[in-house]
Amino acid sequence: MQLNLKSAVACALALSVNGLALADEQVLKPSWAMQGDELEHAMTLKGNKDEGREIYEVCAACHMPEGWGLSDGTFPQLAGQHHNVLVKQLADIRAGNRDNPTMYPFALPSQIGGAQAVADVVEYINTLPMNPENGVGPGTDLEHGKQLYKDNCVRCHGENGEGDNAQFYPMIHGQHYEYVARQFREIRDGARRNANPDMVEQVQGFDERDLIAVSDYVSRIKPPADRLGPPGWQNPDYD
Ligand code: HEC
Ligand code: HEC
Repeated sequence: MQLNLKSAVACALALSVNGLALADEQVLKPSWAMQGDELEHAMTLKGNKDEGREIYEVCAACHMPEGWGLSDGTFPQLAGQHHNVLVKQLADIRAGNRDNPTMYPFALPSQIGGAQAVADVVEYINTLPMNPENGVGPGTDLEHGKQLYKDNCVRCHGENGEGDNAQFYPMIHGQHYEYVARQFREIRDGARRNANPDMVEQVQGFDERDLIAVSDYVSRIKPPADRLGPPGWQNPDYD
């Protein structure tokens, strides 16, 4: 209760202070985002990583203490993902704009707090190194995947799947293959309601072979070495 009250006050303050000043200078949410005032609000707040570490304990049960997820793709890797993307996805999940029945009850404001909690937990996640051994696909159709990637994905997700923080384009390299393939399918088929409409259009013609090939290719693009943790690294924050 106290937490909620505190964040409600912080929210009102942040909106009144930042509302005018930021309106023209900064894109606080992409034009294709759904309603979701929390996104805009959380974007104005400075995260506190110590608070975030405490909040992340709940998340660690599924996303693992390292933020590396599971290589079978049940739980995505969060480590290494852009700040703005994490804020948007969390706000979307909390607002019911993205179906995630497993996680939804754990991520609600009544469980972890308001927009400040979102800013805090994202600040903490951004301190984690990435999984050097993410799950990959069958590896049998990579040339096809590479070509598809070049022709259809580079303009948003970048040459190497690095995404773009400012545009809210997710980093997709180094993500578990099964998760990439599942999200891709849901976006193509219109089941992920928060998806970018231009991506939905871009991938309409993708059949099963294309989907597997491009997801496999993406999962095998290595993130820059300095972003990776050592194999088997364990997060000392949760001994
Ligand atoms: C009970 C398990 C569970 C818990 C607890 C949980 N998550 Fe998740 N989370 C998931 C699943 C499953 C998905 C992927 C859903 C899908 O396939 O669309 C996910 C997806 C996400 C995504 C989207 C990732 C992306 O690449 O788009 C973010 C961000 C996220 N979780 C953050 C968190 C945070 C922060 C917490 C703690 C406050 C948390 N999760 C707690 C299961 C969980
Ligand atoms: C017009 C820009 C655009 C194009 C082209 C595009 N994407 Fe995306 N993609 C996005 C955006 C934006 C999101 C995040 C949408 C959201 O917020 O839910 C996304 C999300 C994803 C996700 C889910 C990531 C996650 O962490 O949940 C995957 C996987 C993905 N794209 C793969 C691809 C692949 C592979 C291609 C090429 C075949 C592609 N995209 C083409 C903009 C694009």
